[in-house]
Amino acid sequence: MSIRIGEQERLFSLETEHTLYQMKADETDVLLHLWYGPRTGADMGYRIRTVNRGFCGNPYEAQERLDYSLDTLPQEYSGNGVGDYRSAAVQAEHRSGSMSVDWRYAGYRLLKGKEKPAGLPGVRGNADTEGLEIILEDKAGGLAAYLAYWVFAEYDVIVRSARIENRGEAAVFLTKAASLCMDFPYGRQEVIHFHGRHAMERIPERVPVPAGGRLAFESRRDMSSHQSNPFIILTEPDTTERRGICRGFMLMYSGNHLEEVSADQTGSTRVVCGIHPEGFRWKLEPGDSFQTPEVILSCSEAGLNALSRNYHRLIRSEVIAPRWRGAKKPVLVNSWEACYFDFDAEKLMKLARSAAELGMEMLVLDDGWFGKRDDDTTSLGDWDCNEKKLGCSLGELSERIHSLGLRFGLWFEPEMVSPDSDLYRAHPDWALADPGRYPMVARRQLVLDMGRKEVQDYLFDTLSTILKGARIEYVKWDFNRSVANVWSRALPEDRQGEAAHRFMLGTYRLLERLTEAFPEVMIEGCSGGGGRFDAGMLYYCPQIWCSDNTDAVERLEIQRGTSYGYPPCTMGAHVSACPNHQTGRTVPLETRGIVAQAGTFGYELDPSRMTEAEKKTVKEQIAAFHRHEKLTTGGDWYRLDETEEDWTSWMVVSPDRNEALVSVAATHVRANGSFPFIRLQGLDPEKVYLREDTGERLTGAALMYGGIPLPQFAGDYPAKQIYLSGGQEDAAGEG
Ligand code: DGJ
Repeated sequence: MSIRIGEQERLFSLETEHTLYQMKADETDVLLHLWYGPRTGADMGYRIRTVNRGFCGNPYEAQERLDYSLDTLPQEYSGNGVGDYRSAAVQAEHRSGSMSVDWRYAGYRLLKGKEKPAGLPGVRGNADTEGLEIILEDKAGGLAAYLAYWVFAEYDVIVRSARIENRGEAAVFLTKAASLCMDFPYGRQEVIHFHGRHAMERIPERVPVPAGGRLAFESRRDMSSHQSNPFIILTEPDTTERRGICRGFMLMYSGNHLEEVSADQTGSTRVVCGIHPEGFRWKLEPGDSFQTPEVILSCSEAGLNALSRNYHRLIRSEVIAPRWRGAKKPVLVNSWEACYFDFDAEKLMKLARSAAELGMEMLVLDDGWFGKRDDDTTSLGDWDCNEKKLGCSLGELSERIHSLGLRFGLWFEPEMVSPDSDLYRAHPDWALADPGRYPMVARRQLVLDMGRKEVQDYLFDTLSTILKGARIEYVKWDFNRSVANVWSRALPEDRQGEAAHRFMLGTYRLLERLTEAFPEVMIEGCSGGGGRFDAGMLYYCPQIWCSDNTDAVERLEIQRGTSYGYPPCTMGAHVSACPNHQTGRTVPLETRGIVAQAGTFGYELDPSRMTEAEKKTVKEQIAAFHRHEKLTTGGDWYRLDETEEDWTSWMVVSPDRNEALVSVAATHVRANGSFPFIRLQGLDPEKVYLREDTGERLTGAALMYGGIPLPQFAGDYPAKQIYLSGGQEDAAGEG
């Protein structure tokens, strides 16, 4: 039983294998957050201390208790304007103009059988998944909040969301509806957030929460963004990769988001996350409700690596569609960096033939196959094959590719429209634009109003026609600009604040319909690389192109940052040509292969232009990928060497701890360097492991505490992979 209800049904404890989440409705019916951390087996209410602090007022019903203030108590879901001066979880405009929200506990319900939140992606679960619903009421405002908590005990994960209902008789406008608020009353905290830019996404930065201040991590681009991923980690100052308490907050949403982390006058830390309130104004007619996205929470007392593994396991098993869980994915070759817009069927067939000879398994035809598209100025929205350019139909091309034993994938950018397109000429009103203003243009394209059903239907029909007309096993779903001018012709004036979220709901609806209609087609998410790398997209797309930056050295940082929240099997990673198209750097093919094997593994080059020696290396890489695929996609991932600047290393260990693959890539080789040892993790200390490249046998304990020597590297950006297998014999070699 993962949910315990006690003390006359006012104390709620949610337990996972190693963690406890606890809250309690107090004598004033305020829902207090008591604990989210390691299991304690106790009522953590003893930690609530009330002190009469100046300028911290008292709720009317507790006015004689000068020490009792909403401003200092840890709240489970904060209101607004009624005496808690920290960040609000919910803000509303009532008919009277009042903006106050004052939550009081009004009951609970045990839940069984997880369903995803209406209209949104959600952590999957099953009929046995246990949950709890807590009901809060703002009586004067006529609002109710239904807080949902789902327990995924084996992953140490709790999934939280809120639904806000208008129980009153007049319309209410929600101007903020966060998915979660959580208070940590004592102890300094630090935050790891994942910032970036196009071609350099999810770079971790660790910052202290400033006393009395607020940190905000956000996107207002109507995409989860390259600039700020909807995932933060709250850590205690002494937490490292290997030890210490940390808590993750991952918003399962692909649009505007805000993660606020603030520390108040008493040193208490508050986290609020959800849809970004700026530009958000949702009208709730009487009886209507608003559903927030889910937040995936995890807590670890064993450091950041353990926290990441909780997310990896949960995403692999409960976010990715069952069809793709642990599925063997084809080694693909993508045409983008091989040809850009310059191709026809013959050129693609040449590429495909050499790809097939080397053991690649799928050709993905990227941008440029449709409408009149020979560059990025035209044709988005006209999803019909440019047969003149190709020299044949898509059906014919795909048959020819299949005859080589390869599968076939195709690129789309469904939410976009080029001003120079038949679609725009027929339906200019389908593009987002403010009245009386020219819309912002980016990459010479506009954005479709995805909230409109006719737009969704058009895209469903056109994409379905293409998918039915040719043998297509894979779709790359791109999204190449930030959204602006979020004004919808389909919405009345007082609902324009809904347009941004309705845009996301429309995109999810389209993805839902297409994945239902074509369950065998794997969709790889993409947004100019990794601009929409989030748990919401992963619900529909089992993998996402990690970055437009394919330089292996830069990828070390990008993939390492991504690995804090997302499993390697979701990270689109390809070997590309050198000099690299983004940085001009030349990195050995072996290193490029090792780095791409830390993700989904594929190629982004024209193999027909390779030398015989390179072709031989590629064949070996593909063989190595197949050999270790189960281990790398399903094993436990560890980031090693958190403090080293000259190299990056990581390892993956099979769940039974019988196998491990260690990778190390040097970014700076030193003359006459020291003799560093890389200390491994996750092995069985008692087991003896055979190191394949040297034939050495060492115990897991030796490998973890003593480590393995950093290879004696020379040259530019060398890398090495070391395979370890656990035998039955002891270190002395005795059976
Ligand atoms: C951005 C993607 O990330 C690239 O891989 C490629 O598909 C281009 N778009 C095509 O326009």
